[in-house]
Amino acid sequence: MADDNRRVPSNNQAHWDARYANSADAGLSWSEGPDSLSLKWILEVAPEASSIVDVGAGRSTLLPTLLTRGYTQLTHVDWSESASLSLQRSLGYRATRIKWVVDDLLEWQPGHPIDLWHDRAVFHFQVDLESINSYLEALHRNVRQGGYFLIATFHLDGPKECSGLPVKRYCENSILAVLGSYSGVNWIAVRSAIWKHVSPDGIEQNFQYLLAKRG
Ligand SMILES: C[S@@+](CC[C@H](N)C(=O)[O-])C[C@H]1O[C@@H](n2cnc3c(N)ncnc32)[C@H](O)[C@@H]1O
Repeated sequence: MADDNRRVPSNNQAHWDARYANSADAGLSWSEGPDSLSLKWILEVAPEASSIVDVGAGRSTLLPTLLTRGYTQLTHVDWSESASLSLQRSLGYRATRIKWVVDDLLEWQPGHPIDLWHDRAVFHFQVDLESINSYLEALHRNVRQGGYFLIATFHLDGPKECSGLPVKRYCENSILAVLGSYSGVNWIAVRSAIWKHVSPDGIEQNFQYLLAKRG
């Protein structure tokens, strides 16, 4: 007989909210400092007036760093209220210069076209075809033609899990293949790199980064 009490972890709001509420940044394996590859690439391709969304942004310092660099149209989307509020608190009055959305990124409707959609360590939690397709729907609904998708997933030789949840791992070609499976849209690879992330407790994890432009 099946054990009904067995808890199968899944990628949901409650899981992430508890994770952030119970851990300082030093206890979150994905935490990174402000000098990220994402920052470098965004500075290279996106002018300061670009509308940039960081989906599943958590407590990442990417948007606060872009704010310091003069970016004016920044949106933070994460379904963890705990992560959103603690990042807002850390910014003080500057928090009002970022738009904060506590919602499922798959449901979110920005109401304006997005110039650059940033996702670090979020898409790879979509492990079944249905949720991958929902993600692709959201991406294509919101990123304008000529806009960018900057994504970082665990690389093929990266960990099989993150935060106790299974992930799907990618290389440049397999991300492009997933994008290509969405009919009628052409994505052009602009930058690609494998990036060694070192977690706060010293564990190395390979990420696949890809910056693609919507044709
Ligand atoms: C591993 S963390 C990465 C956080 C951040 N991107 C970074 O690099 O520091 C994954 C994040 O994705 C968020 N997330 C996952 N699925 C989501 C969804 N469907 N809608 C909104 N946020 C989501 C989680 O709450 C969590 O903050």
